[in-house]
Amino acid sequence: MADIILGIESSCDDTSAAVLKDRVLLSNVIASQQVHKDYGGVVPELASRAHEVNIVPVVSRALELAGVQPEELTAIAFTRGPGLLGSLLVGTSFAKAMGLALDIPIIMVNHLQGHILANFVRQPDKPVHEPSFPYLCLLVSGGNSQIVRVDDPLHFEILGQTIDDAVGEAFDKCSKMMGLGYPGGPIIDKLAQQGDPDRFHFAKPNIPGLDYSFSGIKTSLLYFVRDEMAKDPQFMEKNKEDICAGFQKALIDILMKKLILAARQTGIRDITIGGGVSANSGLRKAIEAEGRKRGWNTFLPEFKFTTDNAAMIAVAGYFHYQAGERTPLDVAPVSRIADY
Ligand code: KG4
Repeated sequence: MADIILGIESSCDDTSAAVLKDRVLLSNVIASQQVHKDYGGVVPELASRAHEVNIVPVVSRALELAGVQPEELTAIAFTRGPGLLGSLLVGTSFAKAMGLALDIPIIMVNHLQGHILANFVRQPDKPVHEPSFPYLCLLVSGGNSQIVRVDDPLHFEILGQTIDDAVGEAFDKCSKMMGLGYPGGPIIDKLAQQGDPDRFHFAKPNIPGLDYSFSGIKTSLLYFVRDEMAKDPQFMEKNKEDICAGFQKALIDILMKKLILAARQTGIRDITIGGGVSANSGLRKAIEAEGRKRGWNTFLPEFKFTTDNAAMIAVAGYFHYQAGERTPLDVAPVSRIADY
């Protein structure tokens, strides 16, 4: 009999529910929260409250679109962490209550593992394109910048990660400081496509091993813009495309340098990306170009599976369920990966 898994994701500012039948996606509903727009960043308390409002309609809609009755569900997978504690609490409590009411198992999922396994969500009428184990995943989002070695669906190792800001944070904070808006990634990406990436250069970090750092380049950009604006108040307006192009190029170079090193050190050639920043057009092109040069098999998930979504949580939950894992009802959410 098929396993039908309901996935629930509520770790940050998207409330999402998805239904998967043996890894084939039947529905994936995402309610993005608009309440944060005026603040230039996610406000945790507002996020929790919006999740509370969204969770019932989002889950109901996901079941309806999938054509699945609650009684047909095999298990409920939910994000336990890392993320915002109040937000996680909504998804976790909802999963517990629904699991208890239906008398079916609940399965906790590490949010990062969801991103890492996003390529294993199958879509009806689309060819299967999945990496072989072991593979490397460049996980880049507003909260993470990591290179992860994935040995099988349930075992992964973080080979390198940021020692300060995440790359998405660098996009967001710099965009905000330059007065370009929030979230910064898509805005900078768009402007960069119209600019000259070689006109302005920004300091790149020199961090040993496979770790990243993004706070230095952020500061370098901010000082540069401040100094130039002091000389010419129109500087930003006149040069924003070139500034964004140079800044984005530098961020991509930093990401690619360590990814190439990780591939060389491990000998692994199957490379995937995940997280919101993997939507970046320059990064996607850079990975494809390096892949062609170095004989990598590259896997760039569709945009809807790169940002936070419940389909990836459901697929990770599916693998845990298949392995016989069940989560007790006294489970509590965790905000940091270190608490796992
Ligand atoms: O995975 P995600 O949706 O959730 C968080 O970790 O918060 O990632 C959001 C991040 C934000 O920093 C956003 O600016 C960035 O992904 N992002 C992008 C692009 N689209 C979204 N960064 C660069 N280029 C993009 N096209």
